[in-house]
Amino acid sequence: MDGNRHDNDLTGVIEADRAHVWHHLVQHKPFETGAPRVIVEGRGMSVWDQNGKEHLDAVSGGVWTVNVGYGRERIADAVRDQLVKLNYFAGAAGTIPGARFAEALIDKMPGLSRVYYCNSGSEANEKAFKMVRQIAQKRYGGKKHKILYRDRDYHGTTIGCLSAGGQDERNAHYGPFAPGFVRVPHCLEYRRHEQEGAPEENYGLWAADQIEAVILREGPDTVGALCLEPVTAGGGVIPPPSGYWERVQEICRKYDILLHIDEVVCGVGRTGTWFGYQNYGVQPDMVTMAKGLASGYAAIACLVTTEEVFSMFKEAPEDPLDYFRDISTFGGCTAGPAAALENMAIVEEEGLLANTRAMGDRLMERLGELKDKHAVVGDVRGAGLFCGAELVADRHTKEPVDEKLAQKVVGECNAAGVIIGVTNRSLPGRNNTLCFSPALIATADDIDHIAATVDDALTRVFG
Ligand SMILES: Cc1ncc(COP(=O)(O)O)c(C=O)c1O
Repeated sequence: MDGNRHDNDLTGVIEADRAHVWHHLVQHKPFETGAPRVIVEGRGMSVWDQNGKEHLDAVSGGVWTVNVGYGRERIADAVRDQLVKLNYFAGAAGTIPGARFAEALIDKMPGLSRVYYCNSGSEANEKAFKMVRQIAQKRYGGKKHKILYRDRDYHGTTIGCLSAGGQDERNAHYGPFAPGFVRVPHCLEYRRHEQEGAPEENYGLWAADQIEAVILREGPDTVGALCLEPVTAGGGVIPPPSGYWERVQEICRKYDILLHIDEVVCGVGRTGTWFGYQNYGVQPDMVTMAKGLASGYAAIACLVTTEEVFSMFKEAPEDPLDYFRDISTFGGCTAGPAAALENMAIVEEEGLLANTRAMGDRLMERLGELKDKHAVVGDVRGAGLFCGAELVADRHTKEPVDEKLAQKVVGECNAAGVIIGVTNRSLPGRNNTLCFSPALIATADDIDHIAATVDDALTRVFG
């Protein structure tokens, strides 16, 4: 940055924000006496706040979104050019960027063939749930309608998505939820001691087998789909244990259950492959994505399916109800696919998948060093530039650290100019995992700076 653009007087902006903006996910009482944070500019890995203070953003816009970093003029240019040509037309028709991006995306997703556009991760997941229900009606007399979801996973903010929500604190007070959603156990090996019967060996197979146990309990002829995050995000950054996904795939095939993978966080490079599931050799039937799809330069989400799933919705053209009778108004905005096309080209041209793998390894190495140094770091885990450090009060019992202390670490890093995250109001008493998801352009210096800042913060909070 040139340093000259941050000293404008933003007092009026802050007052307008305090008076009228209802922020996401935060308590507002403190804003009665203090100012909310307002982010004014971004460039590369950094953002500047209202006071002109620079922060290294280790969480890609707070929630794993700005994958290619801030200030990408070529995305802005592509969006501008598209908007003046055609900003919108409802999705019953096609558009040039919609067709082009669908083709580019499918090229990265062998085995899948159809892209359904909408505008948020929650909405994409809702579309998938609706498809499962419609398939159940069409093929199985409504019986095979249940959707399995996993403890600790999150799929969005709507009542439908919260019905598939494995985070009890996030769900609290918002029930009653929709029927037909059934929970399966989580696969966090570090906390296997809290799961009855979990073995020390072959934990991944055991965890997958718990899904089969739920299917058998519910009746396989009632279960239509299994919806999972490839790596659980807000529920504690949980990469799958070894053997897990292969077994999950087998189980889905055995009982004719659609595998719906929620790539809203992992999609488009976060784990060092185009999609998280591609690390594990599985073949999903439906994939949902949002956040990093256009790195937040435009709102876009989509649901991608196999041709087999798509075909089920065009079998009986004489039946006026036999197609996917769904619309997303803003799924017809052209800014989304125009931005997503450029975003994907940047990932490709700048070799960001390889960078994500290399920098992800470096980040895991640095977090491992923090674990060696600070007893409060109980576990470090991750995939690509998507890492977590779980803080515990006692390494032996694995009792989670007081959440306020975990938040204090975030505050200390913030004061030192590095924005990191922590699991937030997801799981009762279990919001104790620090989260790191820098943009895929992170350099070795950025990674080392993030780790050194966390090191200092841990020392300040825990000694
Ligand atoms: C795994 C996952 N799925 C879905 C969503 C919902 O996406 P959105 O906030 O775009 O509705 C989120 C949001 O954090 C997420 O982490």
